[in-house]
Amino acid sequence: MSYQRTFAMLKPGVLQRRISGDIISRIDRKGLKILALKMMVIDKPLAERHYAEHQDKPFFTELVSYMTSGPVLAMVLAGEHAVHQLRVLCGPTNPDQAPPGTIRGDFSEIMNRNVIHASDSPESAEREIGLFFTDQEIHEYEDDNDKWIY
Ligand code: PPS
Repeated sequence: MSYQRTFAMLKPGVLQRRISGDIISRIDRKGLKILALKMMVIDKPLAERHYAEHQDKPFFTELVSYMTSGPVLAMVLAGEHAVHQLRVLCGPTNPDQAPPGTIRGDFSEIMNRNVIHASDSPESAEREIGLFFTDQEIHEYEDDNDKWIY
């Protein structure tokens, strides 16, 4: 058993398109547990810190501009192999390669509007959770369903 936390963010456009419920429902149905969820508008410094490892990439400016263009839903999720489980649920980063049935495959068409961010490792997850949430905003709780899911 490898209980992990991961970080997810529903990107700008998701709320405007009224697809947040559909996406959260998939996360719920998979069995990932929501430990924190908040709506926020990210400012430029936070977006730049979140994507710091990509600061030299040609798409960095466009990415920061997109991520600060409207409200997002930031989430802390937990479960067995949660980092991997969420990445599988999302599908490949490029929606062109994301199969139907994945979140990106079903809800996005192009790379720079790929609707959801998911941490790529347990270490990234903890770093990103720390950028977006205080410990007081994260709520562990008993979940009777755990015994049925796992
Ligand atoms: S790389 O170069 O392989 O390290 O990049 P990758 O992991 O594929 O993507 C890193 C994040 O940058 C986003 N991205 C883009 N945004 C806007 N425009 C373009 N062209 C672009 N290419 C990559 C990509 O969605 C990743 O962000 P997240 O939030 O993890 O989806």
